Amino acid sequence: MKQKSIFICQSCGNEAPKWAGKCSFCGEWNSLVETASLTRSGQKTGSRRKKLADPQKLSEVKKTNLARIKTGLSEIDRVLGAGVVPGSVILLAGEPGIGKSTLVLQLAAAISGQRSVTSDQPLATSDRRPVIRKKNKKPITDHRLPITLYISGEESLSQIKIRADRLGAEKSETLFLSEIEVETICDQIEKIKPKIAIIDSIQTLVSEDLSGPAGSVGQVREAAMRLIRVAKTTQTALFLIGHVTKGGIIAGPKVLEHMVDVVVTLEGEKLANFRILRSVKNRFGATSEVGIFEMTDRGMKEVTNPSKVLLEKRVEKTPGSVVVPVIEGTRPILAEIQALVVPTQLPIPRRVVQGISYNRVQLVAAVLTKKLGLPLGGQDVMVNVAGGLKIEDPGADLGVALAIYSSFKDISLPVGWAVFGEVGLLGELRSVFQGDRRIKEAKRLGFTKVISPEKFSSVREVVSQIKLQAS
Ligand code: TYD
Ligand code: MG
Repeated sequence: MKQKSIFICQSCGNEAPKWAGKCSFCGEWNSLVETASLTRSGQKTGSRRKKLADPQKLSEVKKTNLARIKTGLSEIDRVLGAGVVPGSVILLAGEPGIGKSTLVLQLAAAISGQRSVTSDQPLATSDRRPVIRKKNKKPITDHRLPITLYISGEESLSQIKIRADRLGAEKSETLFLSEIEVETICDQIEKIKPKIAIIDSIQTLVSEDLSGPAGSVGQVREAAMRLIRVAKTTQTALFLIGHVTKGGIIAGPKVLEHMVDVVVTLEGEKLANFRILRSVKNRFGATSEVGIFEMTDRGMKEVTNPSKVLLEKRVEKTPGSVVVPVIEGTRPILAEIQALVVPTQLPIPRRVVQGISYNRVQLVAAVLTKKLGLPLGGQDVMVNVAGGLKIEDPGADLGVALAIYSSFKDISLPVGWAVFGEVGLLGELRSVFQGDRRIKEAKRLGFTKVISPEKFSSVREVVSQIKLQAS
């Protein structure tokens, strides 16, 4: 039998006919990856030589307006940069069970014209149609509804139906296919030429030319390569779903990152309700945008006013609770930071941190000990960001500091306070970006006093204000 695959060392490029744990050429361990040999020589995809394209000056290149397909879900459009670009390949990565399948099923329904995501914003029907702009002319609207093809390698059609019923997406125009063989899937995409194809998930696909199991680096890469080629020729926008583990180290999606146009991740605590869609790479837009969803029993719900939702359950006048305006992506959000400080029963006190960097909490705790004389050495300190939000913004430091302080002293922050600022090692308050927008968001939600690095120079100064108010 003719051998269909070869093994290529990812470190030196050496080819081997068989898999081995160590590359015989450069000596690297675990670097051999299975690759289809036929596609490499080009025989399978048509051996005719392509017409030679001449290099051009950019001034000679015609400008094409990328007609984006609006998905109808404002939070997804925001993350992708005003909609989906035809022919683009989007990798949606996230931990198993976080809600990727749910989100894409709702996305498929929304694109096909059925509203299945609830939101406080009405859906404008004209928004869903791709708009093609001609030079100096009125935009013309493509009135065909985009066909969406949803290919699941994980679930049977009846399983998907049950889920769709639950989401209220059962009447969508989306076509479904349960298939794992990548060659068949490519043929179907070429035949149907959908505007959007969704592959759930890339780790379940296998190519008949490779012998490795589904999910192995070789299979994942080969499947993605073939799908991307078809997507570009048929101008189908492709959503590839990829599972990653907590550390994000599963080889599959990582090798895909440089092959695709856009990488978005869906994050959140599985047991908390909020999910954040974040773009980490985008060839067609900014990468700082985030979309926020709430996981409900009827699927994902768009959260267009996250500050309000996040603070809904907050109880004022509680020691250990502080509100911080943080910047998530490009928008300000009010987050509640909670701390609980209790005497420890252990020789080494515990630090339990959720939703914010462990190291930053350690740093802030050290500053409180040294600069304010807070004896945290004998205390367990727990810090949590309410609602399952994950904060990377250093502006949350002051919030952490005051939450710990207020829990330790058992006094609550004055009503109507919101605080932000980075805490330095000397206990000083440092300015953070977009201070004005943070203050505006806090004022918008009714906070009357915003403590910022512009008005206060150190944590100590802020704390003396609290004492003054408390007494
Ligand atoms: P799923 O989309 O299957 O996750 P993924 O594709 O990322 O693996 O979501 C799985 C979880 O979401 C599951 O534990 C149940 C929950 N869920 C809801 O809470 N509400 C819903 O409407 C649906 C469909 C799922
Ligand atoms: Mg899934």
